[in-house]
Amino acid sequence: MEIRVVAGDIAKFEADAIIVNCFEGEPPEGDLAHIDKLLDGNISRLISNKEIKGKADEITVIHSLGKLPAARVAVVGLGKKPEVTLDKVRDGVAKTLRLLRQKGAGNIATVVQGADISGISAENAVQAITEGALLGTYTFRKHITKEPEHGEIKQLSILYPEKAPIAALEQARERGRIVSEATNLARDMVNEPANYKTPTVMAEEAIKLAKNYGLEITVLEREQMQGLGMGALLGVAQGSKQPPKFIIIQYRGKDSKEPDIVLAGKGITFDSGGISLKPSEGMGDMKGDMAGGAAVMLAMTVIAQLKPKVNVTGLVPATENMPGGGALKPADILTALNGKTIEIISTDAEGRLILADALSYANKLGARRIIDVATLTGACVVALGEICSGAFGNNQELIDKIIAAGKDAGERIWQMPMFDDYKEQNKSDVADIKNSGGKWGGAITAAQFLAEFAGDTPWVHLDIAGTNMTDKERGHLVKGATGVMVRTLVNLIIALAAEQK
Ligand code: BES
Ligand code: MN
Ligand code: ZN
Repeated sequence: MEIRVVAGDIAKFEADAIIVNCFEGEPPEGDLAHIDKLLDGNISRLISNKEIKGKADEITVIHSLGKLPAARVAVVGLGKKPEVTLDKVRDGVAKTLRLLRQKGAGNIATVVQGADISGISAENAVQAITEGALLGTYTFRKHITKEPEHGEIKQLSILYPEKAPIAALEQARERGRIVSEATNLARDMVNEPANYKTPTVMAEEAIKLAKNYGLEITVLEREQMQGLGMGALLGVAQGSKQPPKFIIIQYRGKDSKEPDIVLAGKGITFDSGGISLKPSEGMGDMKGDMAGGAAVMLAMTVIAQLKPKVNVTGLVPATENMPGGGALKPADILTALNGKTIEIISTDAEGRLILADALSYANKLGARRIIDVATLTGACVVALGEICSGAFGNNQELIDKIIAAGKDAGERIWQMPMFDDYKEQNKSDVADIKNSGGKWGGAITAAQFLAEFAGDTPWVHLDIAGTNMTDKERGHLVKGATGVMVRTLVNLIIALAAEQK
């Protein structure tokens, strides 16, 4: 889909459909009033009949029957004026375009929805519209040989009044396009089945992306990991025929050497549970257990394009978790990169093992801050459902920043407690720590485990087990992978860069 910003009058625009907004409890004004008049007061009639209420989520499609150059008008509710948010704009655009696509519309125009309402700038509105359009119409059809039933939206024109500053709006559109395309590529990776995305394929993909965007990349092979002493990651990898990869992507935005921030993403390309085998029902979803790694990889490509003045390193420990003949067994003891020993209680608590080595590696690099992103625990899904990701950390300032970055992206993050008392559950009789603290508070004990490897570096762990996939369309999300955290990580890094000036 091509998205462009165009100066002009939407009422005069020739398209398969045009999109205008109405607000709850408000009479038509501006473009809506103008179009209403051209449609002989049809929209006002629908408002007085209460068919159009203006509530957020409400879409009414009206045929213009030759009274406008556009064949249809979609009147989209944005709720009460003071309560309009970028989330409502983004989600509204997503839903409207899916509906219009169903109706065969290929060429669509919209007003700058939400601009100058409840403090929303035209730039932010344009970015949200772009994101809603690209994220909301995403499909994963790579392995389907049949043509889709619906057509494709070829063009979306965002119409703005003549006097608006076009350069700033085009920049906002561009930002929206870059982050959405990256998010959709992260979704592609997560949706891809594990037979098409071994750790080797992940590493090849990372090398391709790094080349395209001018990032430095190193991929550590098994022997190199052995040399370094990444015993935790190697322990998980030993049950699989697929060799593990440790992917290191570097972005240099300023002269100094140390990374201002290290992003570490869990890269389990399939989580069978290992010897602590998972039940077969729903096991297929575990193809998505590398979503944290995908978010980190794609966030890095956006950073390379936006060029903030910070140094960022992305780490993706990638392996399968399989129950092969050489597999890790319960009661085995592993030694992580930082020298700590780990008693294996469950081979299914593998994410924290590979992250233990990634966090230790981040500290070896001299990271000033660390964020890890992982589909880490079912317990987090029990606690927060599909709606919020969980945030855990050792530094309130950094936690607050990432929650704020998520808010701007429309990705909700909820802070979870990290009281020392939880550490008790991770104590082992035979090693420094064990890899499962049992059922109760499982998302928190997992985070407490990671905290041991983050050490004193300001660190936040994001558990995306619940938010990584969705089983139904929800606003800008479609069924399957969500690509969660790509945009939040980007926002965070842009904010950190702005702060440094
Ligand atoms: N990858 C899973 C967590 C998960 C669950 C992600 C549901 C997405 C949806 C993780 O490796 C895992 O198996 N965690 C175990 C930990 C337990 C054995 C301590 C869990 O949550 O059951
Ligand atoms: Mn597991
Ligand atoms: Zn896992």
